[in-house]
Amino acid sequence: MTAKILDGKKIAQDYRAKLKKEVAVMKAQTFTPNLTVVLVGNDGASLSYVTSKKKAAEAIGMSSDIIKLEENTSEEEVLKIIRGLNENPQVHGILVQVPLPEQINESHILEEIAPEKDVDGFSPINIGRLYAGVETFIPCTPLGIMELLKHADINLTGKEIAVIGRSHIVGQPVAKLLTDSDATVTLLHSKSKFLKDTLKRSDVIISAVGKPGLVTVEDVKPGAVVIDVGNTVVDGKLRGDVDYEAVKEVAGAITPVPGGVGPMTITMVLNNTLIAAQRLVE
Ligand code: GUN
Repeated sequence: MTAKILDGKKIAQDYRAKLKKEVAVMKAQTFTPNLTVVLVGNDGASLSYVTSKKKAAEAIGMSSDIIKLEENTSEEEVLKIIRGLNENPQVHGILVQVPLPEQINESHILEEIAPEKDVDGFSPINIGRLYAGVETFIPCTPLGIMELLKHADINLTGKEIAVIGRSHIVGQPVAKLLTDSDATVTLLHSKSKFLKDTLKRSDVIISAVGKPGLVTVEDVKPGAVVIDVGNTVVDGKLRGDVDYEAVKEVAGAITPVPGGVGPMTITMVLNNTLIAAQRLVE
């Protein structure tokens, strides 16, 4: 069996075409949605992510700005900038790229973003709203994964799902969304005792660790759906957590790296920014 390739690039393209139409309607009737991204420091990967987000926003007709701050910027300066963005009526979505330099406490920054502009869904209020089951911004990678799963022809009800990695950005929120979809989720991490056994019996594996080669062909049940969130640069090339070439021969569906989850994350940033803008005119 050869897996169905879950082509995130193509799925994202189709999704963005839909968003572009909605943005055009919004611009004709009211205003142009704006996404403002704050980047602190000189991390090359982060710069490339935020540039992609800006380009993607502009490609669907939104406006987008990047506020680029020096590596040694103080926490107070970043907080001041966020307060300004919170109060700026022309800004609808605010995203602060993480990780942040060590002199800045990430929680303090995320707490300062106005929940109604927090398109990443990282602020404590929005995280709380997600777990309380009320309307919020769902973090973009989990939202993108749910969209990819829709294309995997799998009914999640009663399925065994292994999520590897317990971050607030991916593992924990995706486990919550999958549980809400009636799946049985095991959230695995570096201290888990039965990681490999759990993978082997799972109908869906989602790996969000950043460890190339972590998920091997021996770990995957024939026909299982495998979503690879890993993106580690090895010898100048982007690699996921999954041994893609071998696993695609046994899986039912699989995401490539690059071109799987990554384009979906960016698409969901755009999705959430449009929602933030639309809520203002509802
Ligand atoms: N760093 C890695 N992924 C993300 C993301 O989805 N949002 C933000 N703000 N920073 C990230």
